[in-house]
Amino acid sequence: MATALIILAAGKGTRMKSDLPKVLHKVAGVPMLHHAMRGGAALSPERTIVVAGHGADEVEAAARDYDPDAIIALQEEQNGTGHAVAQAKPALEGFDGDAIVLYGDTPFISPETLERMAEARKSHDVVVLGFEPADPARYGRLVMSGDRLDRIVEFKDASDEERAITFCNSGVICAGAATLFDLIEAVGNDNASGEYYLTDIVAIANARGLSATAIACDEAETLGINSRTDLAAAEAAFQARARAEAMENGVTLPAPETVHFAFDTAIGRDTTIEQNVVFGPGVTVETGAHIRAFSHLEGCHVSRGAVVGPYARLRPGAELAEDTRIGNFVEVKNATIDEGAKVNHLSYIGDAHVGSGSNIGAGTITCNYDGLGKHHTEIGENVFIGSNTMLVAPVTVGNGALTGSGSVITKDVPADALAIARAEQVNKPGMARKLFELLKKKKAQKTRTEAG
Ligand code: UD1
Ligand code: CA
Repeated sequence: MATALIILAAGKGTRMKSDLPKVLHKVAGVPMLHHAMRGGAALSPERTIVVAGHGADEVEAAARDYDPDAIIALQEEQNGTGHAVAQAKPALEGFDGDAIVLYGDTPFISPETLERMAEARKSHDVVVLGFEPADPARYGRLVMSGDRLDRIVEFKDASDEERAITFCNSGVICAGAATLFDLIEAVGNDNASGEYYLTDIVAIANARGLSATAIACDEAETLGINSRTDLAAAEAAFQARARAEAMENGVTLPAPETVHFAFDTAIGRDTTIEQNVVFGPGVTVETGAHIRAFSHLEGCHVSRGAVVGPYARLRPGAELAEDTRIGNFVEVKNATIDEGAKVNHLSYIGDAHVGSGSNIGAGTITCNYDGLGKHHTEIGENVFIGSNTMLVAPVTVGNGALTGSGSVITKDVPADALAIARAEQVNKPGMARKLFELLKKKKAQKTRTEAG
């Protein structure tokens, strides 16, 4: 069955106390909206419609960032979840598959759960996702008769008897798209909130002789984010799962609670990730690499056998080949480090290529930025860059060349050449002693003047 996603993301998120639309607050390095989109992507949706209202332009940009084909439906006034879903109707013109309603602030609905809903849809017209929360609080209640769902009643509108029900509405609903919009047209707003409730479609469906059911998922999946506290709880839940998954996949984490993964971090087996390592989005680490303590990685690729850190920073475009070494206080950005090359201490390598087997001495910097543009540094194979070399880009150092420590290299260095670019050393015999005597005398004079 063809599927379309309708993701509600129009709400203001007042309790976030933020200028940023709620669904753009980040969990595991990306907007929470991306998590909802990724969950839904498991159903290979033919269309994805994001219903936006508050901060619609920003929400649109973020949605397109994840899926360039995402369609934005504008909900100018937030008149309820039923009204929100109705805004997606024009975008689903001519679509005759199933529509599934998800929420931009509910990031963890799993692909397996969505697949179970799709399965239940084969025998029911409307399928609702329910859960048994530890504290049912103010959630909508699912009124069941056996495996049939009779109706959903919002907490505000519920009788004491209905409030005693513990099976609650997650909000996620699946139905044929045409049926869904037909049912929503019959929804009114005569209720405690004066809103058009999506949940009312269940009773309407039953009245029309259609069938509805609810399936259950774990409460952890339905975790919704309304406040900064919820945001932190969502981050913690994501991290706990990501750490457990990494270890299940054969990654060694000596202190898992200190390692922070992003949404899409991919780590091969037999890799060790030491204490306090942070991953931003877009990182792949291959088998048998070693990421040492206090390193920060984003948008980079680390190959087999590479050792990174402690205290290394890999920024977007860092590409480390097999058996490379990136040591303490080294930053690598938009640079390829070929097999076996080493940058072990206190360096910045940006917009560069370092050939295989080369050694970059301590304190070396590729001076890639002239205040206006970025320039490339090309370093050949088996090059030895002396400590504290400034490589003023654009510049090329040929294979097998060597630069003297402290050089400022502004011109290309041919293969196998030694380049020295620094002031020549002058030794002045006895001069240090004379200088110190002079200074001592001056100091003594000053002390006398102050005392007298
Ligand atoms: C809704 C359900 C409730 C369920 C709960 C689960 C309804 C009527 N109630 O209640 O049964 O237990 O979710 O969390 O559906 N939104 C829009 N436009 C609107 C209204 C809402 O985009 O006009 C979005 C919100 O941004 C939010 C989501 O829909 O992400 C849910 O809306 P909210 O007002 O929080 O619904 P609840 O009262 O929590
Ligand atoms: Ca809510």
